[in-house]
Amino acid sequence: MLLVGLITVSARSLELGVGAVIEWSTAVAGHPSQVHSFRTRKLSILVLRIYTGKDLYALKAPPMNLAEFIEGRRDQHLAELCEFLRIPSVSAKSEHKPDIERGARWVADNLRAAGFKTVEIVPTNLHPLVYAESLEAPGKPTILFYGHYDVQPAEPLDLWTSPAFDPAVRNGNLFGRGTADDKGQVHIHLKAFESLQKVNGKLPINVKVLIEGEEEVGSVSLWDYVQKNKEKLKADALVVSDTSMLGKGVPSITYGLRGLNYYQIELTGPERDLHSGVYGGAVPNPLTILTELFAKLHDKNFRVTVPGFYDAVAKVSNAERKALNALPWKKKDFEKAVGAPGYFGEKGFTTVERLWARPTFELNGVWGGYQGEGAKTVIPSKAFAKFSTRLVPNQDPYKIAKLVEKHIRKLLPKTVHCKFEVLSTGKPWVAPYHDPIFKKAQSALEKGFGKKAVFIREGGSIPFVTQMHDTFKVPCVLLGFGLPDENAHAPDEHIALENYFGGIKAIAYFYADLATL
Ligand code: BES
Ligand code: MN
Ligand code: MN
Repeated sequence: MLLVGLITVSARSLELGVGAVIEWSTAVAGHPSQVHSFRTRKLSILVLRIYTGKDLYALKAPPMNLAEFIEGRRDQHLAELCEFLRIPSVSAKSEHKPDIERGARWVADNLRAAGFKTVEIVPTNLHPLVYAESLEAPGKPTILFYGHYDVQPAEPLDLWTSPAFDPAVRNGNLFGRGTADDKGQVHIHLKAFESLQKVNGKLPINVKVLIEGEEEVGSVSLWDYVQKNKEKLKADALVVSDTSMLGKGVPSITYGLRGLNYYQIELTGPERDLHSGVYGGAVPNPLTILTELFAKLHDKNFRVTVPGFYDAVAKVSNAERKALNALPWKKKDFEKAVGAPGYFGEKGFTTVERLWARPTFELNGVWGGYQGEGAKTVIPSKAFAKFSTRLVPNQDPYKIAKLVEKHIRKLLPKTVHCKFEVLSTGKPWVAPYHDPIFKKAQSALEKGFGKKAVFIREGGSIPFVTQMHDTFKVPCVLLGFGLPDENAHAPDEHIALENYFGGIKAIAYFYADLATL
């Protein structure tokens, strides 16, 4: 057997014109062969690379150096991630149901390949979640790793430089829907687990894994699953990579997230569309009323006008305010990422405070009336809007939803009917970071990125983090490898390859080091 391994040559990466790159690797004796393919656009070079030594790790006397192992598998890791990214697992759209199922299966198969013996795909009312565990380190800590395999819709498709579900590398970044949010970051952990498993023969700690398929639509089935499986999910800490670094080269640990309530309203005026010449001037126009309504929801200092909206908002202590504002956050980078002609926000707060520690009211979509080519003189019967509130400690999502509905109903004239829906609610989260696990996380990030990690809060929301924190009261360690300008949820989403590869190393060190917690 040994001889077979020694003479095994793995020919990898054969890139062919109009774009197909077919990658195959012939693994050493006892290791599965894997076939991958990924495409690039406009590439017409032929590259044939032959690896001999690096793939023969299994024949070397263990233990092989973890970093060396990970370093030697860069191409393979990237090719595998591309395969994951090519599955359009969009949770919001029913037409993608088969892709969601495929996404769940891909995660399950890869967890098995990473050495997890217990792997299950759990059906829910909406999209399946994947659960796995490896509890073979008696006396060692148990962590629960959480992530999501679902992605946001890719539209508008014409604004992508390369197709959303056909990943491509440009300028040191990997582009594609889900690269940063969250498939790329989930993959970092899968590869860290696999590397530890292959280098040491087993995982150094006990690991439970929960990868869901509904995060981008509000984690609607997750709460029920958590409540029914408390014993199963119990762990000493929760580990998540679904956030961002403060900036490039600044590894970050997130200790606070905003909550999110999402709403939709439908205003109905006339019972059917009307000719605007025949009726205009004497009938209510729901679109006009909708725009008037939203114009009243902020005052001149950009504070939300809903009575009681700020009542429960926790004041950020002076010490924390000072710490947050002293972070190496760069206004220039922020403005470059946004690209607006000018900026504003709630009076009395810095940008970082506005983003991380203040609640907001945002209009997310408005529609109604005629939007086709040319002109149509119509008074629409209906007008619609989607909007949301980001929440901070100690706002209660249910109370806020009631206050918002009450205020909106009060502002609307009697000339329209209003259907008001709350599509999802989610609590904010902020937690201290004294637990020794945070020191381990900080030093692992330092090893992976060569820089000391900073502690940040962020403005996005991850419903599961709050649920976990409330249910188990355990430390939640959020190690983000995205970047604020990575275009999450937008065209040309990407992840910096240095964060992806650095992330695998940092996470592998982190898990290895947790054995001594
Ligand atoms: N990964 C994000 C959340 C996030 C992004 C946290 C950046 C911190 C920094 C997550 O996938 C997400 O997009 N969440 C949604 C909420 C969900 C309920 C739809 C969000 O924040 O809008
Ligand atoms: Mn995410
Ligand atoms: Mn997201």
